[in-house]
Amino acid sequence: MTPSDVKATLSFSDGSPSMDLPIYKGSIGPDVIDIRKLYGQTGKFTYDPGFLSTASCNSTITYIDGDKGELLYRGYPIEQLAVHADFLETCHLLLYGDLPDAQQKKDFTARVTNHTMVNEQMQFFLRGFRRDAHPMAVMTGLVGALSAFYHDSTDINNPQHREIAAIRLIAKMPTLVAMAYKYSAGQPYMYPKNKLSYAGNFMHMMFATPCEDYEVNPVIERALDRIFILHADHEQNASTSTVRLCGSSGTNPFAAIAAGVACLWGPAHGGANEACLNMLGDIQKMGGVEKIGDFIKQVKDKNSNVKLMGFGHRVYKNYDPRAKLMRETCHEVLGALGLENDPLFKLAMSLEKIALEDDYFVSRKLYPNVDFYSGIVQRAIGIPVSLFTAIFALARTVGWIAQLNEMIGDPEYKIGRPRQLFVGSTPREVKPLAQR
Ligand SMILES: CC(C)(COP(=O)(O)OP(=O)(O)OC[C@H]1O[C@@H](n2cnc3c(N)ncnc32)[C@H](O)[C@@H]1OP(=O)(O)O)[C@@H](O)C(=O)NCCC(=O)NCCS
Repeated sequence: MTPSDVKATLSFSDGSPSMDLPIYKGSIGPDVIDIRKLYGQTGKFTYDPGFLSTASCNSTITYIDGDKGELLYRGYPIEQLAVHADFLETCHLLLYGDLPDAQQKKDFTARVTNHTMVNEQMQFFLRGFRRDAHPMAVMTGLVGALSAFYHDSTDINNPQHREIAAIRLIAKMPTLVAMAYKYSAGQPYMYPKNKLSYAGNFMHMMFATPCEDYEVNPVIERALDRIFILHADHEQNASTSTVRLCGSSGTNPFAAIAAGVACLWGPAHGGANEACLNMLGDIQKMGGVEKIGDFIKQVKDKNSNVKLMGFGHRVYKNYDPRAKLMRETCHEVLGALGLENDPLFKLAMSLEKIALEDDYFVSRKLYPNVDFYSGIVQRAIGIPVSLFTAIFALARTVGWIAQLNEMIGDPEYKIGRPRQLFVGSTPREVKPLAQR
């Protein structure tokens, strides 16, 4: 970390001694004030629920400028990666710091491809779930269970274990998501086909059956690959911070990633695209495009608790750059599949138009986020709505591992342990039951 010449001074109105706090400069983005000695020197904590002003780590992986609507993986703009790289190249970039050359790409692809199958016993574990279980419930279980199947890569402090766990997770996530889907559909599992691309293989495991040949549609293959690239990392969001916090105790990588899967499930995070599609379905049931006005009225009513899902973002206060790319993919996929007149798509486009012009959204800088479009694309591809967040988890796994590995390799890393402002009861006596 580069120290700044400037220091911050914290003073107190009650005359307590003031304190100088060092400042560090990022390569881009805001500087940070180092408060690590604050408690030791003043006996006070900082208070920042939701981490609105707190950097929990230093990182070299992903940079977001929410006001500009900029997203960089290792310095490369997402717009360029989405056009000039594929998902496995992006994985290499996130994990090792740079895009692979041709030989490195070949080697990395071969390593990932070599690990696409899962232990045969996993299918019996899967069988313990109800067929109608939510795929994210199943994925939380399956990913956590990987630590029981792959004992030889569970020591988070061993760099080789971390490396093999990383490759296994990237390779096996598509297989697990497809197995969860096939199980819910009551269809036989399809083993991975390693001659296919990462996205093509996923499509094969999802949509092929043993009875017929399956041809991968290149437009859909590219769209899925783009979905994976756009979701691969997003710096210190809720699930990534969960993975870091979970991993900071020294637990194994599979358990830490399972914690990330569980966090991602929430509707304010990865569950948003599912929530968005469900919302579109509800508006459609209310009467479709003509009822958008009524729906927007509910959204604006603070007592209704209704939100326009797929709009707004904690960090982006401008158009989410991933949303622009996904919007493009959305039009491409629907065009290729002849679904431009799909009622839900038309509804989404009308909703988008109205919300982008409405002062409520404009004044609050609420723009469509990536989930607004990714749900529509996935639905067109034939992915069931309940599986959307599992696809997000599949793509985000590489980001989680890159962030986890960065944390473990950081000499300043400590177990994560936030503090609190206690506002509960002061000490009191426990009365025996008869006197309460
Ligand atoms: C993502 C999200 C949690 C970010 O929340 P945040 O940064 O804490 O923003 P806030 O909740 O402070 O929102 C600021 C204002 O916009 C409103 N707002 C935010 N998102 C909104 C939405 N989707 N629909 C309607 N109003 C919204 C809030 O009510 C608040 O209004 P107020 O200032 O009058 O109280 C929030 O925008 C949201 O829930 N969006 C829908 C879910 C979604 O798409 N999530 C995917 C994220 S990738």
